[in-house]
Amino acid sequence: MADVPEGGGVILSEERVVVTQPEPGEYRAFSAVCTHQGCVVSDISNGAINCACHQSSFSITDGSVLGGPATAPLPEQAITVEGDSVRLG
Ligand code: FES
Repeated sequence: MADVPEGGGVILSEERVVVTQPEPGEYRAFSAVCTHQGCVVSDISNGAINCACHQSSFSITDGSVLGGPATAPLPEQAITVEGDSVRLG
C-alpha cells in the first residue's frame, strides 16, 4: 500500500478507494466514487477529498460533504492496520 500522508490521503483509483490519515496513526478508508454522479475523486488537499467533475468535496475524517453539489457522504470502508501497512477489509 502506498504511503498515506498525515493530514491527507491517497486515492487508489483501481480499487476505487481513498485511504486517509486524518490524525497521526489514525487511518480511514472511503469509497472513491463521488456520490454526486459517480466520478472517481481526483485529489486530496487541505483535509478535503475533491471531485473534479463538479467540485464536490468531502472530509478526510468522516467522508461528510464539505461543499459542492453532492449531498451524501462517501461511504466508509473497512480497513485493517498492521504496523506500517494498511489493508482493505
Ligand atoms: S460527480 Fe463528483 S461532483 Fe459531480
